[in-house]
Amino acid sequence: MTVSELSKATDAAAKPLELAIILPTLNERANLAPLVERLDKALAGIAWEAIFVDDNSPDGTSDEARAISQRDRRVRVIQRINRRGLASAAIEGMMATAAPVVAVMDADHQHDPNLLPRMLQSVTGGECDVAVASRFAEGASTEEWGRPDRVKASNIANAIARKVTGVDLSDPMSGYFMLKAETLRQTAPKLSGVGFKILLDILATSEKHLRVRDFPLSFAARASGESKLDRTVVFEFLVGLYDKWLGRIIPTRFALFGTIGAAGVVVHMAVLALVLAVAGGSFKGHLVSAFELGQTLAALVAMTFNFVLNNALTYADKRLTGTVALIKGWAKFGLTCSVGLLANVGVAAVLVRFGFHEYPAALTGIVVGSVWNFALSSKFVWGR
Ligand code: GDD
Ligand code: MN
Repeated sequence: MTVSELSKATDAAAKPLELAIILPTLNERANLAPLVERLDKALAGIAWEAIFVDDNSPDGTSDEARAISQRDRRVRVIQRINRRGLASAAIEGMMATAAPVVAVMDADHQHDPNLLPRMLQSVTGGECDVAVASRFAEGASTEEWGRPDRVKASNIANAIARKVTGVDLSDPMSGYFMLKAETLRQTAPKLSGVGFKILLDILATSEKHLRVRDFPLSFAARASGESKLDRTVVFEFLVGLYDKWLGRIIPTRFALFGTIGAAGVVVHMAVLALVLAVAGGSFKGHLVSAFELGQTLAALVAMTFNFVLNNALTYADKRLTGTVALIKGWAKFGLTCSVGLLANVGVAAVLVRFGFHEYPAALTGIVVGSVWNFALSSKFVWGR
């Protein structure tokens, strides 16, 4: 460190805190130290702190963050246990600082920290309420998009977002933005936290019209590790919209779970019909009937269909990966659903005995069974 660098650093330390950078992490161990170095360079002369919000990553990201914090007290750590989710991690990080301005940034080096000083100037100077680093603003570039369909999907989502928030955003899905902590605190009680898209959530929730300014970002390739958000952008976005509008009436995850369950019924019927068509005649005198075989196969296929889709979509943020975890999850899901089926049949049977009509009784059974499946699988299959 040169003398002038040293005096800059001590000046910054003596100044009241100006900016907190919130960095949600999930298995980013190797990215932390180089990132703090880049922040240090980019933010020379600014009094900043960085808060890593780690969801107990198995690779020891929290330990690494604490080790860095021991050397550099501008670095702080929140280690969450039994929690998952980018949006809630970002919100909790932003609520945990005394800095008047907060930024959220990815920890995988895809977001260029050199934009921070200009964003800060714009927010503190009152030029805008929210500074957004945009992958689609004029002058921006994306190194890693590769798949043109992802860019196109983003364009569609962006157009809808513009209508919903009433704000002209070139990149409403951006995970890199900055705003006054006070603005965040005003909207925070109404943010869903499931909200897959936190920036959009803040903008759509705020009662005050928020003025946004875009900062063109060159979206870099990931430095190390892998992306956790590989769902299609449009799906992510539609879920966000649903969550905003109807999520309080029927919780978003349950709605997804139920929709997939309904699709599962169709799959079940298709498999059953197929087995009956193929093997219908050839089972005379056998121990199992074609219907029994078909029904068993159909139930297994439908259950697997439900597991795979829920894992990919409903619980995308807590997705199970790796063969062992998948097989274990599948087995636990099967177990949960078989108990759900008992509850379903049991409730329906009791209702019929009490004089209910068969169809409303069956429907009630289905609802009870689904609620059971949802509640138990969210805890035991995707809980952690
Ligand atoms: N604490 C926590 N909990 N952090 C998480 C979680 C989680 O469940 N999931 C992801 N992260 C962290 C990652 O470690 C990374 O620092 C950052 O959040 C972004 O995750 P990536 O997995 O790198 O996301 P991406 O690069 O695929 O997605 C990019 O585009 C999205 C829009 O399409 C990011 O810029 C996102 O922020 C953006 O919303
Ligand atoms: Mn990333």
